[in-house]
Amino acid sequence: MKSPAMNIPILDLKAQYAAIREEINQKVLAILDSQNFILGAEVRALEEEIASLSGTRFAVGVSSGSDALIISLMALGVGAGDAVITTPFTFFATAGAIARVGAELVFCDIDERTFNLDSERLREVIERRMKRKPGRAGSRGKKGRGGKRTLRATGRRTGREQAGQLKAVIPVHLYGQCADMDPILAVAKEYGLAVVEDAAQAIGSEYPSQRGVKKAGTMGALGTLSFYPSKNLGGCGDGGMVLTESQKLADKLRCLRQHGDTKKYYYKMLGGNFRLDALQAAILRVKLRHLNAWQAMRRERATTYDRRFAESGLVAAGLVKPPVAVYKNCGITNYHTFHQYVVRAKKRDALQAFLKEKGVGTSVFYPLPLHLQKCFAYLGYKRGDFPVSERAAKEVLALPMYAELTPDQQDYIISCFKQFYGN
Ligand SMILES: Cc1ncc(COP(=O)(O)O)c(C=O)c1O
Repeated sequence: MKSPAMNIPILDLKAQYAAIREEINQKVLAILDSQNFILGAEVRALEEEIASLSGTRFAVGVSSGSDALIISLMALGVGAGDAVITTPFTFFATAGAIARVGAELVFCDIDERTFNLDSERLREVIERRMKRKPGRAGSRGKKGRGGKRTLRATGRRTGREQAGQLKAVIPVHLYGQCADMDPILAVAKEYGLAVVEDAAQAIGSEYPSQRGVKKAGTMGALGTLSFYPSKNLGGCGDGGMVLTESQKLADKLRCLRQHGDTKKYYYKMLGGNFRLDALQAAILRVKLRHLNAWQAMRRERATTYDRRFAESGLVAAGLVKPPVAVYKNCGITNYHTFHQYVVRAKKRDALQAFLKEKGVGTSVFYPLPLHLQKCFAYLGYKRGDFPVSERAAKEVLALPMYAELTPDQQDYIISCFKQFYGN
C-alpha cells in the first residue's frame, strides 16, 4: 500500500508540548525539588484560578473527572435507594458514577442536533416513572413543601424489587457545547432534583442563560471537570475538579476527597482518596495560561472546517456539520469550545476506514450507547429505547481538532472527504 500523503492524528499532544516545553519542565523540576506531592499550594492555586475562570465561588481539585462525578453524588448524599437520570450518549464515567454510588441509573434520550440531554424528554422520563407508582397509576406525585413533587416510583427496569427515589439529574455538555440548561434547570427545580453538570468536555464553554452568560459547570448545584490529557485543559495524567457556589458542599467535598477526615486520623464521614496531586496542578497551571488562546484557535479551526465543508458541496450532499445551537431564551449564540469537532456522516464506518488509509485519524465518540452496554444489561433496556442516541452512535465521527492543526492539514482532510463521497 502506498503511504498516505499526510499523517494527521486525531490529537497531537506532542505539538502542544513542544510549544510549552520549557515552562512545563521548569514547573515539574520545581515540584520534584520541593518533594511536596499531595494537595498543597499548587492545588490551592489551581483551584482559585479555575474558580475565577469559571466565575464560581469554589473549585475542589480531585483525582479525575470520573471521581469528580462520584464525589459530587456522595456530597449530595446520593446512594442506595436513590435514582439519577442521565444521557446514554456520553462517556461511560457519567453513568458509571451513578451505578458506583449504588443509585439506580435512569436514562433519558438526547436532542437530535446538540447530542445533549433534552428537557422535554427529561420531563417525560420523570412523569413516566411517577405514573408507574404501584396502586397510583396516573398519579403526578404528591406536592410537598415548596410545591416540589415527591417522586417514588417502581419501574420495570431496575432489576430490583424497589426503584430508587429520583434525586438528581446529570446533563453532559458533550463535545464542548453546553446543554440547553435553562429548561433543564426548570424541570429539575419543579421536581426537586439536584443538578450535577458533567462539564468534563466543556471547560470554559459558555451558555447564554436567562440569568446572564454562564460557564459550563456553574449552573447546577455542582459541576465537574476532567483534566484527562486529551481534554482542552489536560494534565500529564489524571485529574479533575468540582465547581460549586455552596460553601457547605465545597467543605464536604474537601472532606470526602481525603477519606472523610476532619483532622488527621479523625473521620466524620466515609470518603476516599480523591485527591489531585501537586505535579498535575502545577502542569495544569502552566497550560491554563494558554487556554483562552487555544480555545479561540479551536473555534477558528471549527469555522474553517464548517466553511470548507460548505464550499465543497458535501453539506448539500448530506454531511452534517456540528451545529452550534442558538438557544431560545436569548438571541446570542452559545460559546462552543469544540473539545471535539463531530460530523454526522453517511457510510460512517467506511468513511473512517478510508480516512485511516489516507493517514487521517478520527474517532467515534461513542459507538454503543450506554443503555446497551453489557454491564448495564441488568437495567433491562433494549435497542430502540433511545432512538436518537442510537442513531447518533451510528453516524458521528470526530475529526482532528487542536490548536496546532494547520490550514494545509484541514484542506487535506476535506479533499479526502471529497474523494470518498466522489466530489
Ligand atoms: C463526558 C465525560 N464525563 C466524564 C469523564 C471522565 O473523566 P476522566 O477521564 O478524567 O475520569 C470524561 C472523560 O473522558 C468525559 O468525557
